[in-house]
Amino acid sequence: MKSEIKDESLAQAGLARILWADRDMPVLASIRERFEREKPLKGVRIGACLHVTTETANLMRTLATGGAEVHLCASNPLSTQDDTAASLVKDFGIDVHAIKGEDTETYYHHVDAIIDTKPQITMDDGADVVSRIHESRTDILSGIIGGTEETTTGVVRLRAMAAQNALRYPIIAVNEAKTKHFFDNRYGTGQSSLDGVIRLTNRLLAGRTMVISGYGWCGKGLAKRASGMGCNVIICEVDAVAALEAHMDGFRVMPCAEAAREADIWITVTGDLNVIDEPAYNNMKDGAIICNSGHFNSEINIPWLRENSVKHEQLKPMVEEFTLQDGRTIILLAEGRLVNLSGAEGHPANVMDMSFANQALCAEYMVQHASEMKSDCYDVPEEIDDSIARVKLQTLGVSIDTLTPEQEKYLNSWDMGTE
Ligand SMILES: NC(=O)c1ccc[n+]([C@@H]2O[C@H](COP(=O)([O-])OP(=O)(O)OC[C@H]3O[C@@H](n4cnc5c(N)ncnc54)[C@H](O)[C@@H]3O)[C@@H](O)[C@H]2O)c1
Repeated sequence: MKSEIKDESLAQAGLARILWADRDMPVLASIRERFEREKPLKGVRIGACLHVTTETANLMRTLATGGAEVHLCASNPLSTQDDTAASLVKDFGIDVHAIKGEDTETYYHHVDAIIDTKPQITMDDGADVVSRIHESRTDILSGIIGGTEETTTGVVRLRAMAAQNALRYPIIAVNEAKTKHFFDNRYGTGQSSLDGVIRLTNRLLAGRTMVISGYGWCGKGLAKRASGMGCNVIICEVDAVAALEAHMDGFRVMPCAEAAREADIWITVTGDLNVIDEPAYNNMKDGAIICNSGHFNSEINIPWLRENSVKHEQLKPMVEEFTLQDGRTIILLAEGRLVNLSGAEGHPANVMDMSFANQALCAEYMVQHASEMKSDCYDVPEEIDDSIARVKLQTLGVSIDTLTPEQEKYLNSWDMGTE
């Protein structure tokens, strides 16, 4: 199949960036070394729908080194790095279908191109491939042995499918590994979302009020980093425990319509729908900047903005200004799509090292165990999670203690109490 990318002549710049990221992905590199010797994925066709970034490129290299035939499309129309895509095709012989800025029709055309390769393993970020196969390409289901899913929103969709008995093959929820969401969602989204806002606006964060919707793994990471940059952080939540945690972590917590009166910059990371909507728009300050770092571009009600604006202007790439009837302006970044991947380069390699080590090892696990698994959404096996944490610590030069036999016995007993 012929790759569909922006421009193969961008490959040199892409290669340099892929190798730069690889320097900070030692766990994945160690898996690649083993895969080179053992070829655990020999002859397995993998259809991946992931953000086409330098870190993903290193995962694709690893899977191909393990013997897999890899086909890749983007999991978001704006997150593709065209030079990375070019290098994957030219330097590593990987089939890629992704162009930054592709419209929705082209996006799904590229997803379909991956499905047409009849993958035996699907590797999703947001469950678009899985849902498309279940909705309209059930003809290829018999050839699929299993899949993996990268993000919270994808796992939510898969669990809904499993609960309705709609899921037709086993999928490992990579997001649920501790070595994934503790680090990628928290530190990765925390840093890269601010990076996206800064690159697109170059606004000073210090002294500004930042509203964050969602105090889950991503929101916690974002709030801490924004606070460290001098922002006055306000959290909006719907979950009482998460709201309480935000309050005790020292942040102000309030409903979004109230927070709107204070927001200079607003980032949504909920995985939910229409989180910024009319009640918030009605109260927003003139010039407020809004953006999203949750998976889909559904967290900000953009149709409302379009319908209720008297003027719309593209100020610069990925920065749009909407003027409301009363004259207030609202600035929308990156079309409401993932601001960290659209406006910046996504998560730093050092956290993707663990997320993608999970992907590579789960693909290997699928090859070995799919026949014993049911059509369900599975957590990452604990031994995989633990082994990644151990190798990561080694690469960081951090040593830890080991339980003594006496401690092990004690921790597994119930008969020793107050002495
Ligand atoms: N930008 C990235 O690169 C990146 C990385 C990882 C995850 N994600 C995505 O970010 C989103 C959040 O992921 P997470 O792991 O933090 O999920 P999470 O489940 O840990 O947290 C989501 C939080 O949002 C809250 N929430 C839901 N609806 C809300 C609403 N209407 N108003 C306020 N709060 C609301 C929930 O109560 C929850 O506490 C998902 O869509 C996930 O796929 C993005």
